Amino acid sequence: MEEKHIPVLLKESLSYLITDKQGAYFDGTIGFGGHASKFLEVLDPVEAKLVATEVDKDAYDFSKAKFQSDNRVRLYNTNFSEIDTVSKIEFIEHFDGIFADLGVSSFQLDNPESGFTYRSQSPLDLRLDKTKQISASDVINGFTEEEIADILYQFGEEKNSRRIAQRIVQQRGFREIETTTELAGIIEDLTPSQHLNKTLSRVFQALRIYVNDELGVLREFLIKSVELLKTGGNIVILTYHSLEDRVVKDFFKNESLSCVCPPDFPICVCDKVKRLEVLTRKPVAPSSEEIEINRRARSAKLRAARRV
Ligand SMILES: C[S@@+](CC[C@H](N)C(=O)[O-])C[C@H]1O[C@@H](n2cnc3c(N)ncnc32)[C@H](O)[C@@H]1O
Repeated sequence: MEEKHIPVLLKESLSYLITDKQGAYFDGTIGFGGHASKFLEVLDPVEAKLVATEVDKDAYDFSKAKFQSDNRVRLYNTNFSEIDTVSKIEFIEHFDGIFADLGVSSFQLDNPESGFTYRSQSPLDLRLDKTKQISASDVINGFTEEEIADILYQFGEEKNSRRIAQRIVQQRGFREIETTTELAGIIEDLTPSQHLNKTLSRVFQALRIYVNDELGVLREFLIKSVELLKTGGNIVILTYHSLEDRVVKDFFKNESLSCVCPPDFPICVCDKVKRLEVLTRKPVAPSSEEIEINRRARSAKLRAARRV
């Protein structure tokens, strides 16, 4: 079978996730099933269960076919923020472990038809779920200059956001900006060549995060996951950029505190309950050997926490 995506931090994900081989697990981003295959290899062949979601229809279809003969797998073509709905359908009250490997797969990034790469021409879309209302083209051709600049700054940390937004608005006055390469061309005109690749990836990252509300659905997923995790079960999240890593880090930190009262309060009045024990004080990063084999692993960070 063609290699669509090399799973990142595979051994580390496995060792943090599986606490009971007969348990029920959730993989929020099954993609092409790289991590899931490894989990299933280790899990009990009869008693275990793996419930998974995947928002991209092509990746969903691929994994549906890949795992069709494995009765332990239940797969849903939906957002992982629907974890509560899916667990109800499956009559699962609590999972033994919850996993997500965020972002997009190598296949989505490399395949021009998926529309995630600025290296080849494809419609300016960037939606993971093509049934969603707003695409990158709607943002670029319909939002105000200020709104575009804010998106590039907030979700891409792009310092040149105002100039880029201004040029986009100028250009679309002549003609709609329809493709990834047209947008890339506008940015290329404004950017010194030594900064071009990083600027392009920040702009496309910002649009992708905005269009898919990636930080919003991640927060929703984390909040629901804590409720759905069995005591002693682990949640394991792989992130690929600082914004999503910060969301996970802050969430784990907050859930690991038993009091959030100001330090000068004589007694605790906050009623805060500690629900997570952080297992990775520093995030786990791939080894240099792994990065050499798979360059896409270089920005990965794994964070894990245990439900208490
Ligand atoms: C990095 S890939 C996962 C690869 C997978 N672990 C493997 O080994 O094949 C991320 C996948 O998550 C999907 N995805 C991203 N955000 C999602 C979300 N909010 N809900 C469900 N799937 C999502 C993407 O479509 C992509 O297929």
